[in-house]
Amino acid sequence: MLSLIYVSVASAGLTAADVTTLAERAAANNAKHDVTGMLAYNSQSFMQLLEGDGAHVLSIMRRIEQDDRHGSITYIRQHDREHRECPDWSMRSLVTPMTGIGSANVFTKSLPEAMDLDTKILFTSFASTLTEEQAAQYAEREQSTMWDLKADND
Ligand SMILES: Cc1cc2nc3c(=O)[nH]c(=O)nc-3n(C[C@H](O)[C@H](O)[C@H](O)COP(=O)(O)O)c2cc1C
Repeated sequence: MLSLIYVSVASAGLTAADVTTLAERAAANNAKHDVTGMLAYNSQSFMQLLEGDGAHVLSIMRRIEQDDRHGSITYIRQHDREHRECPDWSMRSLVTPMTGIGSANVFTKSLPEAMDLDTKILFTSFASTLTEEQAAQYAEREQSTMWDLKADND
């Protein structure tokens, strides 16, 4: 069985709703070929795991490579394995990032039990990555909290 993981950059203008529709269609296609996996989307990038019969996974991947809803595909891992990591998901989509204390833990726990620890770490770190815009918003919020604290102390 072939298992592969890639990351890619989402095209401008793609919305979370578009990704949900895309993933529903992907799940229906994948189920026909007994391909399973998951797709994480953080409003800027995708990380996808696909697993199944090698010929099927590669033919789906060739189609995904041509899709103009994303670009700059980078393969992170590709290997043969005995068991599936997402045996029950024909293509589960997860919209991230998660923020807040403990959210990475909650995300990791929502991943399939059969998933290897290194794969869980890969997806959890992807899911915790903020876009530049989000990072700037957090930095701004933190800055104003610091000013509030300073004002309280004065
Ligand atoms: C990030 C991303 C992930 C995708 N994942 C899958 C997938 O797992 N399976 C699939 O069949 N199509 C997937 N697609 C869609 C394919 O590129 C292609 O549009 C689709 O397979 C065509 O199927 P259709 O003829 O039924 O519309 C994905 C597209 C993108 C942008």
